[in-house]
Amino acid sequence: METLQPIPNFSESDLEAILLSKEQIDERIDSLANEISNSYAGKDLTVVCVLSGALVFTADLIRKLDVPTRLDCIRADSYADATESSKPPRIASSLKTDIAGKNVLVVDDILDTGKTLSAIISHLEEFEPSSLKTCVLLDKKERRQVDIEADFSGFDIPNAFVVGYGLDFAEHYRHLPCIGALKAEFQILP
Ligand code: IMP
Ligand code: MG
Repeated sequence: METLQPIPNFSESDLEAILLSKEQIDERIDSLANEISNSYAGKDLTVVCVLSGALVFTADLIRKLDVPTRLDCIRADSYADATESSKPPRIASSLKTDIAGKNVLVVDDILDTGKTLSAIISHLEEFEPSSLKTCVLLDKKERRQVDIEADFSGFDIPNAFVVGYGLDFAEHYRHLPCIGALKAEFQILP
């Protein structure tokens, strides 16, 4: 007998549960932006957005900052098209601006094993910024394999594969305004 394959809608209906609503995210970003603005008061800031996952978070965060802010982007390839990383992350595209002597804040969507953020930090340290800090929206502490903590962190979350608000599965779901655990039946590549 033929088994029916579930068909994803690439919408909130593919989520097992909503973990963080749009309102919860907005509220937390307000307080994160305050923390960051206080910490860089009187200084210039260069935000480095880790593409593509941190794009939505960075866009919301920088509009709430109260310090002069430059923006640059970096891209690291870790999870090709799957939920588990295999090879170590590679810097696929580096900065456009010179960060020597600058106060740099790396913004990423999620700290999972820690491999991506630590590879990015090692890469950026070569350009000799005057300070280098990190900010992540989500932290899956249970999954850590590298000894790294973010300087600014939005939410600790349990070990589930989550999508939405910039986070993807095979480039889908980034546009969802909330964050939720993707149903297991949709964590299958075509
Ligand atoms: P790490 O190198 O294992 O810390 O993974 C960090 C990167 O993996 C993040 O920037 C995300 O792109 C991706 N990632 C880790 N966990 C998730 C998840 O639950 N959903 C979507 N992407 C994830
Ligand atoms: Mg990412």
